[in-house]
Amino acid sequence: MCGIVGIVGNKPVAGRLVDALKRLEYRGYDSAGVATIDNGVMDRRRAEGKLFNLEKRLADEPLGGNIGIAHTRWATHGVPNETNAHPHFVEGVAVVHNGIIENFAELRDELMREGAHFTTQTDTEIVAQLIAKYRRQGYDNRAAMLAMLNHVTGAYALVVMFENDPDTIMAARFGPPLAIGFGKGEMFLGSDAIALAPFTNDIVYMVDGDCAVIHHDSAEITDFSGKPVERPHQISQASAFLVDKGNHRHFMEKEIHEQPEVISHALSNYIDFHSQTVRLDETAIDFGKVSRLAVSACGTAYLSGLVGKYWFERYARLPVEIDVASEFRYREMPLSKDEAALFISQSGETADTLASLRYCKEQGLRIGGIVNVKESTIARESDGVYPILAGPEIGVASTKAFTCQLAVLASLAIGAGRMRGTLTEAEEKQMVRSLSELPRIMSGVLNDIQPQMESLARELSKFHHVLYLGRGTSYPMALEGALKLKEISYIHAEGYAAGELKHGPIALIDENMPVIVIAPHDRFFEKTVSNMQEVAARGGRIIFITDEKGAAASKLPTMATIVLPNVAELIAPMVFALPVQLLAYHTAVFMGTDVDQPRNLAKSVTVE
Ligand code: F6R
Repeated sequence: MCGIVGIVGNKPVAGRLVDALKRLEYRGYDSAGVATIDNGVMDRRRAEGKLFNLEKRLADEPLGGNIGIAHTRWATHGVPNETNAHPHFVEGVAVVHNGIIENFAELRDELMREGAHFTTQTDTEIVAQLIAKYRRQGYDNRAAMLAMLNHVTGAYALVVMFENDPDTIMAARFGPPLAIGFGKGEMFLGSDAIALAPFTNDIVYMVDGDCAVIHHDSAEITDFSGKPVERPHQISQASAFLVDKGNHRHFMEKEIHEQPEVISHALSNYIDFHSQTVRLDETAIDFGKVSRLAVSACGTAYLSGLVGKYWFERYARLPVEIDVASEFRYREMPLSKDEAALFISQSGETADTLASLRYCKEQGLRIGGIVNVKESTIARESDGVYPILAGPEIGVASTKAFTCQLAVLASLAIGAGRMRGTLTEAEEKQMVRSLSELPRIMSGVLNDIQPQMESLARELSKFHHVLYLGRGTSYPMALEGALKLKEISYIHAEGYAAGELKHGPIALIDENMPVIVIAPHDRFFEKTVSNMQEVAARGGRIIFITDEKGAAASKLPTMATIVLPNVAELIAPMVFALPVQLLAYHTAVFMGTDVDQPRNLAKSVTVE
């Protein structure tokens, strides 16, 4: 993770670097730093914690200079203090880094034996130390950079500045993303085009194995042996305006309330509401001809894929193999060319998801990317891109991207059902009608349940452990509920398939462990109610999230019952996501945690 920027400018850069970092804070916020060269002297300001600490430091001790690099950190090696904050300086070499240098320990031991003195606990410092060593041996800056690149292994985006050359920045990519921006007499580097949007929309994306030397008006790109390579220019669509919270307290709250609107954007990309059919580009993936679908993603995106598995298998009779990407990439799953693969990622940059994509690509599969960031690496490496059109998601906990992923997956499953002849025309129309009701139903639910969720959250915030249960597509929703609650409120929560309760977790049930049961009145309702009986019989407290029919059918005592409207089974996951998200959000607000930037997390996970 981490966000990096660099400017070879013709006017002061420190303020602009910090502004660009603000657009990258979603990548990490453990510490931040900026370095510039002013009148031949390289200097830096760094601060632990969020960017405003760095801003305060810069206000007290400003940095001049028209060239600089900057970094916002998500700590991997070394605690998140000021010493470990980037940029790292060694003998006139400044380095910012996103990723992990895997062989740093061996290289550090080697350099220490040669007399090098390390001042940080980071893996990044090895980059500056190695370049410094080659310069001492007489290499020029560029040769030293290439020599360093041929010695480090791992995943990295690197930006390097040299005190003896105030007109040049160098960069390298092997794994995490890096974009070069072309301005007027100024050049920029950034982890993504969003960071560079206020400066330019003329972007070149570096690819793995690229090393770039950036001057005021040009970029020379080579491979790591120094051989020139050509990369195409692209016009970025990223907006120059930082999204704001509007009248909401947090981005997460705003994003929860945006869902009815963004879902309608997502749906209108896949659905012809007039003919009530799904519109799919068959050149991306021809679901009619596919024998099996491999699906992989991480975290919340994985859970949307898990819901998608139920849909593809039920409505399109298409077998789905799904796994979290960190396992999928190493499973060596046998795959054949008549299968296709779907990768789901809000950011489109998640390292494990990308590695899984590349594994499937090597096996000759057609690749579909379900992404929010259309210019992301996953989008660029997919044969077909299925945008979720959720708009920028700033809150670290994913909300609107999740329901938009679900809307896209539902559309794809219906389209696949039609192509495979497993859904009739009438069934397709019926399902499309249900999807088209979503924005209205979601908006009604958001208005209706808000006060109840706030008072329930006050109760929930008194507990230390919470269990979520669900069956069918409500099982991934139980996992999502637990994930959302733990990541932002820091309350320990687990999600279980309701039927698994008696195979272990039931031992935990007592009055101190609320059990949140997600159960619309669907095919599984009676069975889930039996599991609730098992909880009630052991003195467990139940929070029941159900619909009108479910509330009328169950007579069990509960701590609270949240009643949603009766909806078609297909759209229930999107509707039931709302109380799940609101409960986590309000609980976190009561607990006083940092809702939008919870501790230890980052929005884009570009390390394994
Ligand atoms: C949880 C959350 C994470 C992400 C995961 C994947 O609220 O946001 O679990 O879903 O890190 O990220 P993307 O979708 O960017 O690949």
